[in-house]
Amino acid sequence: MFEEAQYFAPVATKDDGSVVVELATSHPGFADAVYRQRRNAIAALALNHTPGDPIPAVEYTDEEHRVWALVSKELAVKHQKYAVREFLDAAKRLGLPEDRIPQLQEVGDLLEPLTGFRYLPAAGLVPLREFYGVLADGLFHSTQYIRHHSVPFYTPEPDVIHEVIGHANTLASPRFAALYRAAGRAARRVESDEALEFVSKVFWFTLEFGVMREDGELKAYGAGILSSYGEIEEFREMDIRPLDIAAMGTTQYDITKYQEVLFEAASFDHLEDTVGVFWDTCDDESIARLVAESPA
Ligand SMILES: [Fe+2]
Repeated sequence: MFEEAQYFAPVATKDDGSVVVELATSHPGFADAVYRQRRNAIAALALNHTPGDPIPAVEYTDEEHRVWALVSKELAVKHQKYAVREFLDAAKRLGLPEDRIPQLQEVGDLLEPLTGFRYLPAAGLVPLREFYGVLADGLFHSTQYIRHHSVPFYTPEPDVIHEVIGHANTLASPRFAALYRAAGRAARRVESDEALEFVSKVFWFTLEFGVMREDGELKAYGAGILSSYGEIEEFREMDIRPLDIAAMGTTQYDITKYQEVLFEAASFDHLEDTVGVFWDTCDDESIARLVAESPA
């Protein structure tokens, strides 16, 4: 439904130093002055953060915690049915709170002993090269705001539910964490913007929206599916194609809709042998060859 590089509300720092998050008129919180003010304050916290310092804590309201608790509970039920085993096992080990929004500092404290990953606060859009690059260092940029309480099962942009329930549970798995790191190294290795975009699209169709065959059933491992109350019920009906690096790196997608084309790994080994090896070995030249040979 969204893409790190394109779908964040713009964040502007005004001449007087105030921070304003520019929500679209279609955003569920657009006409809610209290929500707008919260968004501005939370974005300012991230902008004022210095890497290496503790992550500033957001004082979430009871209403915000209630949104988390509601969505977290419903998603946990759906995960039992639709998520790959690796995700379920990792989520159990991580042990995120179900009744309140965890602080990103706390998420990192839980994750680090498991896979070495820590979280960094993001006000909004993080440039592609930076977002993906620091994955190689075990760092994950994350927003801290939560969706508007009027539509708890919908968000037009990646919020803390997506970033933490979708990504942190995945990052708690050593196998998934290794893939995130490999994507980061690939993003640092490639030089052209075209090659970087290709690497990011492979990430989109795998770690954001990937599906995998498990015991004969199609399961999800992508954080975008696993954090979406609606999409998780729909992915099995989509156009499911075999895992294919050139196709993933060149297929266009619409970030405003449920993903209609998904790529299926036959197994976790298949994912690692295909996508992991691609990220470990790709460079500008090999990606240019894949693009040239691609029918798209
Ligand atoms: Fe994401």
